Parts: sequence; C-alpha cells; structure tokens
Amino acid sequence: MSLVRRLLELDDLDRAQFTGLLDHAEAWKRDPASLPHALAGTSVAMLFQKPSARTRISTEVAVTDLGGHAVVLRNEEVGIGGRESVEDVARTLAGYCGVIMARVFDHAVLETMALTVATPVVNLLSDRAHPCQGLADYLTIREHFGSLDGRRITYVGDGNNVAASLAFGAALSGAELTVATPPGYELDPDVVARARNLGGVVERSHDPHEAVRGADVVYTDVWTSMGQEAEQELRRTAFQGFCVDTALMAAAGPGAVFMHCLPAHRGEEVSAEVIDGPASLVWEQAANRMHSVRSLLASLDVRPPTPGGRRT
Ligand code: CP
Ligand code: NVA
Repeated sequence: MSLVRRLLELDDLDRAQFTGLLDHAEAWKRDPASLPHALAGTSVAMLFQKPSARTRISTEVAVTDLGGHAVVLRNEEVGIGGRESVEDVARTLAGYCGVIMARVFDHAVLETMALTVATPVVNLLSDRAHPCQGLADYLTIREHFGSLDGRRITYVGDGNNVAASLAFGAALSGAELTVATPPGYELDPDVVARARNLGGVVERSHDPHEAVRGADVVYTDVWTSMGQEAEQELRRTAFQGFCVDTALMAAAGPGAVFMHCLPAHRGEEVSAEVIDGPASLVWEQAANRMHSVRSLLASLDVRPPTPGGRRT
C-alpha cells in the first residue's frame, strides 16, 4: 500500500490503504515482536483543544512502541488561533516534529494546518470527523465477524463526527451503514453524498427499531458531544426513544453486537445492561484504538522536520 500523506477524514485513504492499515494492525496485534521501529528518531506533536483519555493514551503508547517520541500539548499551552495563528502553530511544530496530530473544535483548523505544512497532519477528533476512531471500529468489527463486506452496521443517535467516519469506513470496506437519528440531527448530507460517491451504501432513518432490524452491529455515541454542553437539556429531550437498550438490541437480532466509542453515559444513549452485557464489544474497541493507530503511524509519509514545514 502507498504511504498516507494525511488523515483528516477516512476518505483521505483509498480502499487499499484502508484495508492495509487494518491488516497491519491485526498482524502486529497478533505478533507484537514484529512491530517495526517506524518512528525511530521522529517526534510526534499531539495537540488537544478538548479532553481525551483513549485517544491521547493509545496514541502516545503507540508512538513509543514505534520508537518515536510524543510531545503532548494542551491548547492552554499553545493558544492556537489566539496566542498565535493556526498557520504559525503548524509551521512551528513542523520545525521539530515529523507528524502533527490534533484534536480540535473546528475541522477547518486541521485543513489549514494540512495546507500550510508538508508534515502529515492527523485528526484526533474534530466537530466533523473522528477517523482514528473509525479505524479502530472497523478493525474490531472485522476481528469479530471475520469480514467487513456486506456487514450491516446501524448507528443510533446523533449524526455526528463518529457517525461520519463510520460512513466513510463503510464506503471503503463494503459494509452497509444506516444512521438513525431524531429529525434535525441527521448525518450531514455532504458526508452521505461523498460516501455514496465512493460506492458506499449509507442510509438515513428516523426510526431506530426499524433501522436496527437485521443489523450485525448496533453503534451509538453520546447525545451531547464536547463543545455542545449548552445544548445538553435540549438534546436529552430530542433523543428520547434513541437509547440502545435490551429491547432495541432484541430488535436487531441474536447475533448483533453493541459498540460505543466511549465515554458513555449509562441510562442516556445506552442502558447499563447493554453496554455491560455479553453483546458489548466496547473494551475490545477501546483497546483497538492502540493497535489501529500504531498501524496508521507506521504508514505515514513522515519527512524530517523542516523550518516552517515548507513544502518541497
Ligand atoms: N473515543 C475517544 O476518542 O475517547 P477519548 O475522547 O477519551 O479520546
Ligand atoms: N461525539 C463525541 C465523541 C467523543 C469521543 C464528541 O465529539 O465529543
């Protein structure tokens, strides 16, 4: 597979790259001794405008496992867009680091960084996408079922960043995705159009019980994402009827598994019986964040740090 130049959303990858990343992740998970020191001598900047447990820890561990060094920065220390422009932050980081990874409120920040410097830029979650999560999700589904082609995934809840990355992963893998949301919270039509252009089968629904029928995977995420806290009460009301509980899992069928990117709110988007029950894959999914990001980091087109991150 060819090297990955950037990952702002999963459609930055082609099908061969997507499958190759899952293949390597699986191989190195099975045989950790074969993990290459692909990041030897490379420092990786990890910048966070929002909190994180899984993303920060799994990525930092992965960088170390690959022989690199992670520099983890909270935005309070950097002041992106305030203390300094997005472009100047990117140029500065590119002078020291071979990879720039960032969790941001506004997806446009990542696009600006990727346009400004030649250094690979990786999205660690934005308002629009969570591609590293999507990689771990498809790794987990493939491990559980043995294949992705034709696998039916139903996402129930907010048509948000996580749902968008699931849509592109479906398009790249042959899985079929239905996203069931309350009216007003649908998956972005632009995401649906782009995923379908890639050959993806992506449908939208307002009826969770109908949408989960025949699903292999029932997936949900929080109703109120980071940065939307002021809408919490409004959203709790809007999402009534969209909790993944035992009745909804029963409507999916006996072989269906439950997935959630975490953090979870038991009693809101998922019941405790489901997330802590036998059909739940959430801990395999969380652990796979490390295996999949190792594979991504080892496949990046890393260049030596350059003053100002100039494109050559
Ligand atoms: N799933 C996920 O991205 O978790 P964190 O927000 O804890 O990184
Ligand atoms: N949609 C959630 C995902 C958290 C991992 C958020 O953006 O907060």
